[in-house]
Amino acid sequence: MQPPAESLSSDQVDLHRWRTSHLDALERAIYESLDHLVPWMPWAADPGRQQTADFLTKMQQKWESGEAYGYAITSDAEVIGTCVLMRRIGAGGLEIGYWLHPAWTGRGLATMACTALVAQGFQLPGIDRIEIHHDAANHASGAVARRLGFTEVERVRPPEGPVAPGESGITVIRRMTADQWRTRPTGTAARRAG
Ligand SMILES: CC(C)(COP(=O)(O)OP(=O)(O)OC[C@H]1O[C@@H](n2cnc3c(N)ncnc32)[C@H](O)[C@@H]1OP(=O)(O)O)[C@@H](O)C(=O)NCCC(=O)NCCS
Repeated sequence: MQPPAESLSSDQVDLHRWRTSHLDALERAIYESLDHLVPWMPWAADPGRQQTADFLTKMQQKWESGEAYGYAITSDAEVIGTCVLMRRIGAGGLEIGYWLHPAWTGRGLATMACTALVAQGFQLPGIDRIEIHHDAANHASGAVARRLGFTEVERVRPPEGPVAPGESGITVIRRMTADQWRTRPTGTAARRAG
């Protein structure tokens, strides 16, 4: 299975494949971001060095198996967030996930990182659609998907209900097809970020 590039760039951010050597930098970024992550990320309720180390080990294993490709989002070599391409929505599809340190939000950096991720995702063999799944109450996450040009295709109520305290329990599924990405209009934030 052809893996993606280990480093990607988009405008003001660089993405680097997660390595276990990122442990200190990731642990620091998580601790400084906890208040901002807890409403949306269930794992943030129970943070710790071991959990972060386990995450990096899992990222390494999933990269090797082709299950997921996780990257540190960096700016001037500082780790400022995470983004990941995941094969968990069926054949031909990839889902992306992301978070940013709150000191780095409001500048388009998540959109830039995801632009690089989506462009790379569509270069992988057989990928015809990429999705972003976010809770309906997570407006900042939905706005990233809209800036990238993703279209809402469905709202679902997962049986487990809300899994983090900010969630409504309604998941919005937004999608970009390979054709839409190739022919997306110029002049959007996504294009600027790309
Ligand atoms: C979701 C999250 C990554 C969004 O971060 P963000 O910084 O708001 O997103 P972007 O990088 O797209 O930045 C958009 C903001 O930068 C501004 N911006 C400035 N330059 C820009 C550019 N070149 N391109 C796009 N936006 C730009 C936009 O106007 C927008 O500002 P606003 O929020 O005041 O409207 C962040 O809120 C987060 O980490 N949340 C917690 C974790 C989470 O919910 N993750 C998603 C789970 S599904």
